[in-house]
Amino acid sequence: MDKTFYIETFGCQMNAHDSEKVIGTLLHQGYAQVDTPEAAHYVFYNTCSIRDKAEQKVFNRLQQFKRDAGKGKVFAVIGCVAQQEGEKIFEKAPHVSLVAGSASYTKLPQMLVQLEAGSRRVTGLSLDTGEAFDTPFTRRDNPHRAYLTIIEGCDKSCAYCVVPFTRGPERSRTSSSVMAEAQGLAGAGYTEIQLLGQNVNSYRDPSPAGWNFATLLDRVGQIPGIRRVRFTTSHPRDFGKEIIDAIDSNPVLCDHVHLPVQSGSTRVLQSMQRLYTRDEYMRRIEWIKNARRKIAITTDIIAGFPGETGKDFEATLALLDEVQYDSLFAFKYSPRPNTAALAMEDQVPEEEKTRRIVTLNERQRAIQIRRNSQLIGEVQQVHVEGRNRALGQWIGRTSQNRTLNFVHDGDADAALAGAYLDVRVTRAGPNSLVGESVANARPVSVM
Ligand code: 5AD
Ligand code: SF4
Repeated sequence: MDKTFYIETFGCQMNAHDSEKVIGTLLHQGYAQVDTPEAAHYVFYNTCSIRDKAEQKVFNRLQQFKRDAGKGKVFAVIGCVAQQEGEKIFEKAPHVSLVAGSASYTKLPQMLVQLEAGSRRVTGLSLDTGEAFDTPFTRRDNPHRAYLTIIEGCDKSCAYCVVPFTRGPERSRTSSSVMAEAQGLAGAGYTEIQLLGQNVNSYRDPSPAGWNFATLLDRVGQIPGIRRVRFTTSHPRDFGKEIIDAIDSNPVLCDHVHLPVQSGSTRVLQSMQRLYTRDEYMRRIEWIKNARRKIAITTDIIAGFPGETGKDFEATLALLDEVQYDSLFAFKYSPRPNTAALAMEDQVPEEEKTRRIVTLNERQRAIQIRRNSQLIGEVQQVHVEGRNRALGQWIGRTSQNRTLNFVHDGDADAALAGAYLDVRVTRAGPNSLVGESVANARPVSVM
């Protein structure tokens, strides 16, 4: 029996981490991962449906294998498109045999056994699981920085968003299982942990300990050996000041908050069902800016939500000027199945969405050039991620989540990845910094 598999992952960090869990589970069951779909018997696509463009990617991939190239292979569509489209995928791509959403991953081994036993089509589409997908077999990609899921699903109902339909209701893991996993990571040599959830701020420990997110964050940040803790994503409505207090009192918690605003117009926020006004959002920005350390702020924005007028859009541009974000992701609104915004009137024409997104990105680029150039001359600690051989530079990441590429004497030293080094910033671009390792400093530590 051919037990080789290939997996390609689309979408967010939750999906990337889900794939790490799926890979670990399959390896544990005796399957063997290969690097190309051509070499594999099982071909997995872990899919994203946040915007139409993301969704189309999987169908393009499947199209390539529709005829001879796909003969004898078993195709599995998992993740958000699987959950959203369900059995319709079999109609669009008849060579697919398995369709499963993330809430069914615990049953993957059984589903594969069914396929091996001759079932032509197997589905895992139930969303009524009480638990988060928890496995001891996660196969992590990066040896220094680890993703760790604390909460799955989402109980909000933003009018544009497909996630509540693809990932189901919120399920928090117990604080003891999160802590045990984090301690295990520290023991295995990981120094950086990124806590994951669609809305980490609504984390609520289901065990009697009853920790909220700020407590969990603080406790993970106290684990010996852990030098950096990040978290994503936050929802402004649930973002409490105690998170800033936790960051202020523990330098292990990174100087960065990603706080998606989506729009600078209270009217649009209301129609998006975001559950906060512009002023309420700005209050959170003030908390962050009043912290003792400089905390980088990044955000997501949707351009061209139905009914967004020129004046609403101006309000978003003014918000960029007011907040001075360190980075932002801007997206054109994309109508999604099942969502409330699908039926809204006043859809914004495509060219206008494009114009708005270009304007947003230009405005933000100028802000980033200015902010990044203010860092020239400063010394920042980086966690070394790897090496760019072509440029002869090391790639590092600052606590504020900026990429800082730098030169370091003794360049051939491959063991630098994973080290923490002090680097002086010498140049700044809109999206990254360049620098040099301070006085040929030795790595502060190499794990
Ligand atoms: N269209 C465009 N962007 C969207 N996002 C979520 N749903 C949509 C949509 N239908 C964006 C939001 C979110 C980010 C992950 O993706 O900005 O914060
Ligand atoms: Fe895409 Fe959202 Fe699913 Fe992540 S949770 S893969 S962003 S649809």
